[in-house]
Amino acid sequence: MVVRGSGPEDLPPKSLVIVFSYHHGNTEKIARAIGGVLGAGVKAPQEIRPEEIAGYDLVGFGSGIYSATFDPSVLTLADRLPQSQGTKAFLFSTYGAPGFIANREFIEKNHDEMRQKLQARGYTVIGDFGCAGWNTNSFLKYFGGLNKSRPDAGDLRNAEAFARAMMEKVR
Ligand SMILES: Cc1cc2nc3c(=O)[nH]c(=O)nc-3n(C[C@H](O)[C@H](O)[C@H](O)COP(=O)(O)O)c2cc1C
Repeated sequence: MVVRGSGPEDLPPKSLVIVFSYHHGNTEKIARAIGGVLGAGVKAPQEIRPEEIAGYDLVGFGSGIYSATFDPSVLTLADRLPQSQGTKAFLFSTYGAPGFIANREFIEKNHDEMRQKLQARGYTVIGDFGCAGWNTNSFLKYFGGLNKSRPDAGDLRNAEAFARAMMEKVR
């Protein structure tokens, strides 16, 4: 008798979430929401050796957006990855730009450098997530910053839904 729902195909993908987040811990909040859904550990780039990443089915790479791209620690990690045969990856970030600027194209543009590095290492990037994050960079601190209280509960729910979609794509 075949018992449905108990085979190895029903196991969640072995997943890992890597994040760099220093400004207000905004992107780490997203990483933890995603990690919770995936049952994945959340690590900083400095906490993982590039060779270890080969053992995962699904890897999320996240960063606050600084000067329109990921932090150098995440970009450098991508450069040091061993060549892969299509390991699935997704990208996530929080940005400080105001809402009227930040559309899907803006999010994907911020992810471009990281996406290209992963693709050069043989990874398949299956999704992008971005949301606003509190930004007090530079002169903004004198005005209370932009996107105060973001990410908020709605952003975290969206991040969880994104994580479920990523899991479904890998299954
Ligand atoms: C040095 C620095 C540069 C930034 N550059 C950008 C930028 O180019 N575009 C943008 O939308 N936000 C920018 N921001 C805002 C951050 O992306 C935003 O606050 C983000 O949520 C920070 O994430 P974190 O708290 O995880 O570090 C910058 C913030 C800092 C501190």
